[in-house]
Amino acid sequence: MAPTEFRRYGQEVVDLVARYLEGLDGISPLPQVNPGEVLAALAPSPPEEGEELDTILGDIERILLPASTHWNHPRFFAYFNSTSAAAGILGELIAASVNANAMLWRTGPAATELEYLTCGWLAELLELPGSFDGHINDTASTSTMVALGAARHRVAPESREQGLSGLAPLRVYGSTQAHSSVEKAVVALGMGRRGYRPVACDPEFRMLPDELERAIAEDLEAGVIPCAVVATAGTTATTSVDPIPAIAEVASRHHLWLHVDAAHGGVAAILPERRWVLEGTDRADSLVVNPHKWLFTPMDCSVLFTAHPGAIRQAFSLVPAYLETPEADRDSGMGSRNLMDLGVALGRRQRALKLWMVMRYFGRSGLQSLLRSHLQMADWLRRQLESGGGWEVMAPVPLATVCFRHHPKGSDDEGGLEAHNREVMRLVNESGEAFISHAAPDGRFVLRATVGGLRTTPHDVERLFAALQLAASRAA
Ligand SMILES: Cc1ncc(COP(=O)(O)O)c(C=O)c1O
Repeated sequence: MAPTEFRRYGQEVVDLVARYLEGLDGISPLPQVNPGEVLAALAPSPPEEGEELDTILGDIERILLPASTHWNHPRFFAYFNSTSAAAGILGELIAASVNANAMLWRTGPAATELEYLTCGWLAELLELPGSFDGHINDTASTSTMVALGAARHRVAPESREQGLSGLAPLRVYGSTQAHSSVEKAVVALGMGRRGYRPVACDPEFRMLPDELERAIAEDLEAGVIPCAVVATAGTTATTSVDPIPAIAEVASRHHLWLHVDAAHGGVAAILPERRWVLEGTDRADSLVVNPHKWLFTPMDCSVLFTAHPGAIRQAFSLVPAYLETPEADRDSGMGSRNLMDLGVALGRRQRALKLWMVMRYFGRSGLQSLLRSHLQMADWLRRQLESGGGWEVMAPVPLATVCFRHHPKGSDDEGGLEAHNREVMRLVNESGEAFISHAAPDGRFVLRATVGGLRTTPHDVERLFAALQLAASRAA
């Protein structure tokens, strides 16, 4: 593409993106689309001859954007929000243009050093210990797997040569509320589903350290080797925060690797009044925080901090001859910081740039005001739901996620309540006003709204509440 053409289309694409973002408020967060419709609307085979970019952009605007679920929509309250700030969107454009593959320092000096610096900035905002070394993965699922890989190596270093067969079974502990990515990592690392043991929680969905202690004692008695414990700061269903200091105590007594999954909740520690969510993490061996969840950074961006980068290298580094570099031999600092050594992926795209741009664009105080506004809006929603109208708030609200259900007078059958609330959710989501999701923290079906979108205002939360009221009256 000639440079003049690139400039012209570049402006057209930026216009398209600006139009898309500006128009979100007027459309439904969930698209009106049936499975298979997108596929049927697109050419089934690649073109023989190249096509005009106008035609391609036309298809994007006509077919793909309308069939997208709009995560940047101001009334997207489902799951954990993942919204992208303009500064991060532009960062992605630049990263794609440079297209650095920072597998080695030499193949991406700027990308490698910026990633180091950016993780250090995030650590500073979260007041993490200065000894934590950070690097960026695609998702928390990968970050957790890498951390547990290092934990596995620590208790069974021989597994690197011979695999796990012939060794005593290993065990990883997490709470009954831990994210499924923990169990998946255990399976992927060859420890089997039986290698994961969920530990009971208190009525506020926080892991019980005594139960952890009991589970470890039982396993030791049975010849199972305790390997790691995963504490969660901001569980997926309710954002409950495990008692990390007490869990750290148990972990240290039994020499377990302590990994903290703060994928969503960790960023709350940017606020001095919520720093407590990461209390005790100074004793953790690793910690994951996802800026792509609640820090306005485009997908994907998951920061894994660890006190033992050497352990990750021992578990994962494998250097074929063609990837040896002179810098790694003579420089023990940045020159030997080859990101390929820190996990499974060899190729590493430049994910730090967008996060660095987002942090610079908002600054600490800008990020703090956004997070505070989300906490306030969630608190408003909680108070509305508690003030009558047949709503029940089903879990404490430590951060900005509210779990609730509609409970009409006299209908106390759990099956009936679930059917009723499923109908409320369907009506809200199909109304096009808002998108909410559900969870089952204690087995009971609850509706769930997270306030965390960059473009969400108090008016949007009022519209959500109005949509809920209307849906509850219609579902009755
Ligand atoms: C607490 C928690 N941990 C981990 C994950 C997995 O995140 P990712 O999609 O980045 O793998 C999630 C997803 O929502 C989560 O809620």
